[in-house]
Amino acid sequence: MSVLRIWQASDLHLGAAGGPEREDRASEAWAEFARAVEEHRPELVVLTGDLVVDDPDDADDHRAARALIAALPVPTLVVPGNHDVGDHAVRRGLPADWHGKTVTAERVASWEAFWGPSWWVEQRGGRTIIGLNSQIVGSGLDAELRQLAWLRGISEALIRGCEVIVFLHEALVPSRRAETEGDGPGTRRGPGTEADGHEDGQARWDDSWMAVPAEAGDVLQSVLREAASLTIASGHTHRAFGAVVDGVRHVSAPSLAGPIPHRADMEQAVGDEWIGWLEFRLPVDGGASVRQPSVDGAATVIVGVEAGAGYVVSASMLGSASATGLALSGG
Ligand SMILES: [Fe+2]
Ligand SMILES: [Fe+2]
Repeated sequence: MSVLRIWQASDLHLGAAGGPEREDRASEAWAEFARAVEEHRPELVVLTGDLVVDDPDDADDHRAARALIAALPVPTLVVPGNHDVGDHAVRRGLPADWHGKTVTAERVASWEAFWGPSWWVEQRGGRTIIGLNSQIVGSGLDAELRQLAWLRGISEALIRGCEVIVFLHEALVPSRRAETEGDGPGTRRGPGTEADGHEDGQARWDDSWMAVPAEAGDVLQSVLREAASLTIASGHTHRAFGAVVDGVRHVSAPSLAGPIPHRADMEQAVGDEWIGWLEFRLPVDGGASVRQPSVDGAATVIVGVEAGAGYVVSASMLGSASATGLALSGG
């Protein structure tokens, strides 16, 4: 094998709790994805959360989603999303009542009892592949401390100087910052002030529904930045997006279940609204990168090519309102 292929699908939203229309749409898209996996046999599939449609406490939906996922014929790893274990209890700059069910120790424990560890590491093709539970970041739960301690514990052997790809549900850096330095949630503000509790003068972030609470996310990212090469791949916004920010590749997978309906009280996420999944092609012997052949019945769009690094992310689309492709450019 000269190329390691990892397929990332996200926001499957499988199950019945959202009504028959959503259930049908999500299961049809999943069937398309499963057929493509069967045919192309990527070495690894990673599903970045929101496996169930809406309700983290709906055991029937978890069972239905796991039955479909377990039938894939290739190794498959999962991390939880807000609809699987609950949302962040607090996000600076968002109204307190924005959230539905919030993440709790009980929800994380029951998810892990059913699905397995919500953070994990794999080594494949000379890469370190890390899965993280984004929903506990900033929660103050014991699980958050354990995840951070675990990450620090593997950093010497598996992160420092390594080529690292991290999969998690919510982005670690507010994706909006990659597009604009303007005002609004998810943008870095100037030095902190006493008034906002940051009298130390350090730069501060406002939170965004698109990403984990920013300061706790920065702590995780400071460990990950010891990598020689770092890619952070998330979902959650249901939009395809790619950018390089401060030398870190940030990639967002679209949803298999379709875009999020626009809401007046939600800031618009960056990226393209289409339905599909991403493929990471990672040369394992220094060979040239190869673009993905078309998946039957679906257009293929190259979403990111980094010249000279042999690093390609491409995307398979099932349907699209706007398909312009993405560019991973910049430093
Ligand atoms: Fe989602
Ligand atoms: Fe989500």
